[in-house]
Amino acid sequence: MNIRGFIFDLDGVITDTAEYHYLAWKKLSDDNGWNFDRELNEKLRGVSRLDSLQIILNHNDVELEFEEKDRLANLKNVNYVQMLQKVTSADLLPGVKEFLIELREKGFKTSVASASKNADLVLTNLEAKGLFDNISDGNSVENSKPAPDVFVHAAGSIGCTAKECIVVEDAEAGVAAAKLAGMKVIGLGAEETLGKADFIFKGIYEINLDDIIKRI
Ligand code: BG6
Ligand code: MG
Repeated sequence: MNIRGFIFDLDGVITDTAEYHYLAWKKLSDDNGWNFDRELNEKLRGVSRLDSLQIILNHNDVELEFEEKDRLANLKNVNYVQMLQKVTSADLLPGVKEFLIELREKGFKTSVASASKNADLVLTNLEAKGLFDNISDGNSVENSKPAPDVFVHAAGSIGCTAKECIVVEDAEAGVAAAKLAGMKVIGLGAEETLGKADFIFKGIYEINLDDIIKRI
């Protein structure tokens, strides 16, 4: 099958906002007397805001009403969005800009598919919106990763079938979602968590486009 589109996760693939997510969840947890550490933060990669809060609550054996969860998730987000003001084009991860330029020069369509509802703001601050034909994010679909919906939405938006797309992901939940959507996946990170991906690299800077296309 001819590959015509590349779909990128945002956090951990295009830029690394995981540290800001960590700091914002840590503050919320400290303010509420909950345990939260970097190990637990790793489990939140690719997971939606409310699902992330639920993981922290479960870890602390805390049960809350939906309204209270919604209020706390919003509190975390206000703090997170404030931190995003520090993001600039210097925060694009190594090789990202070069790879996206190469893709578009060679005629591939490009899209973002992120669980984040702040994707537009992050991409604006990175000055990276122009590198993509489409942005699908947490506002585009109801069900978040590991459901395949955001990848299906992204593929449709760039006029490709699932089989014509390659997804670039750093999270276990994201790899699972892309596989459910019927797409090939390049995983960025550790083999232990991304074992279901078709290819695994440390970062976008390691990807050789011609080689990937040959091997698909
Ligand atoms: C994902 C991140 O991209 O977006 C998660 O990996 C985050 O850590 C999720 O929880 C939702 O982000 P936001 O910006 O909508 O809170
Ligand atoms: Mg990610």
